[in-house]
Amino acid sequence: VDVKNVYRTGYHFQPKKNWINDPNAPMYYKGFYHLFYQYNPKGAVWGNIVWAHSVSTDLINWIPLEPAIVPSKPFDKYGCWSGSATILPGDKPIILYTGIINKKPEPGHQVQNYAIPANYSDPYLRKWIKPDNNPIIKPTHENVSSFRDPTTAWFNNGHWKTVIGSKNNHRGIAYLYRSRDFIKWTKAKHPFHTKSNTGMWECPDFFPVSSQETSGLDTSALGDNVKYVFKVSLDMTRFDYYTIGTYNVIKDKYVPDNTSVDGWAGLRYDYGNFYASKTFFDPIKKRRILLGWANESSTTNEDIAKGWAGIHLIPRKLWLDPSGHKLLQWPIRELDKLRGKMVELRNVKVNKGDTVEVKGITSAQADVDVTFSFSSLDKAEMYDKKWEKFPVENLAKSICGIKGSNVQGGLGPFGLLTLASSKLEEYTPIFFRIFKTIDNKHKVLLCSDATPSSLNPNEYKPSFGGFVDVDLSEKKLSLRSLIDHSVIESFAEGGMTVISSRVYPTLAVAENAHLHVFNNGSEIITIERLNAWSMKTARVN
Ligand code: FRU
Repeated sequence: VDVKNVYRTGYHFQPKKNWINDPNAPMYYKGFYHLFYQYNPKGAVWGNIVWAHSVSTDLINWIPLEPAIVPSKPFDKYGCWSGSATILPGDKPIILYTGIINKKPEPGHQVQNYAIPANYSDPYLRKWIKPDNNPIIKPTHENVSSFRDPTTAWFNNGHWKTVIGSKNNHRGIAYLYRSRDFIKWTKAKHPFHTKSNTGMWECPDFFPVSSQETSGLDTSALGDNVKYVFKVSLDMTRFDYYTIGTYNVIKDKYVPDNTSVDGWAGLRYDYGNFYASKTFFDPIKKRRILLGWANESSTTNEDIAKGWAGIHLIPRKLWLDPSGHKLLQWPIRELDKLRGKMVELRNVKVNKGDTVEVKGITSAQADVDVTFSFSSLDKAEMYDKKWEKFPVENLAKSICGIKGSNVQGGLGPFGLLTLASSKLEEYTPIFFRIFKTIDNKHKVLLCSDATPSSLNPNEYKPSFGGFVDVDLSEKKLSLRSLIDHSVIESFAEGGMTVISSRVYPTLAVAENAHLHVFNNGSEIITIERLNAWSMKTARVN
């Protein structure tokens, strides 16, 4: 296997080489989308962090530019860490980012800096100035090494407001700062939000969502039909969690609704490999877009050998579910332009133990959209009471681990076998399994299981899982999977539950990768409609 290249993606965001982590300061400016990201110019492991910079007109094809912010001053000498952009009145972007001023105490002494474009008439925003009055926000003595990742600021009551992630012992904290001029910032008496036993709150994100429409809102939007989302990246579990709640403008406090919980048992954007995400409002298409990072599941030595590590997932449009209790996500429409050759299946029955191969497309670089139906829920397996002993935050994942795609069931497991080798020595199954509970309700599980994905024993191969909170009265389930060599992003039920996995097949690479539909449950499954496309290669950096 040509390790340097076979696992590179065809249409996901990644630099030509080296290490990449968090997306930073996404924004739209004068005809271009701008994306900055945490980048090591010197290698395929984390370190020497600068803000690399790319621009795009469609968020899919990207042109690389010179790094925008690099360590050079006392206030960011040891690293330019994550941050966000705010568009000030008069269409003037400004960046807030974390600077590392000392390697000690670990992971570094953190302050917040600002940077502004050297030339507002350059739509590429190639050059950024870090004025000498930085840093503009310093930590109090007790949290110098956990005080980072300022959010996009919002404006109300005569002030700009931003939130900075922190912790105190095991308590996660989001500190709120206010400013009239974006230069002189004052810490609010009370944190914006905080929760015990959640650890460091990395990369907080706070934004409004409409309770009426799927279109997005500017970060400063207020109003009657507006709910708020607060997201943190928890470094202990490496997942992004959000709650939906209300924002008290007077007290500058966020309060989650009683339908969403803070911490590890909370809602996730993605139940797989997805971290340090950030949203921004796209003023052109009036939508809120979510960007996230997926790290490698290979070993550090393998990353060094291939010369790169980390990708960004496909940008997703994000909006509030009509229930008001969760968010929905869908790959941005621009991705559809990469769809090439299409094959389709209509009303194909799949019996227990059968597979149906989807032929005629490039299965290692594809987009698959399928709706399954079944005639009854009767055969759903009983939900095992024993599973209640699993910690809630790991419940779905644990069940997917016990009940893999080849463990026969009643209603399911059924779904896709992606990146499959010709004799199924390797495959990554993406599948549903439906359970019946004692009160005669149903639980739908989506699994993205890397366990059988590769003959290479060294990789991390988690069996990710998430529940799909869907009403089964129509006896249908839909799934869209974006397959791209070493990544599979799966969206169940129109983006209700999303799971991303990184996998490294040794046989199922390039033209040797196959795609199948499978059913391993006693209830016959119908592929009502399956469309699968070969995906063209995007121009990425
Ligand atoms: C999240 C994170 C941030 C930090 C950055 C450093 O992945 O740890 O908290 O600013 O990465 O690269």
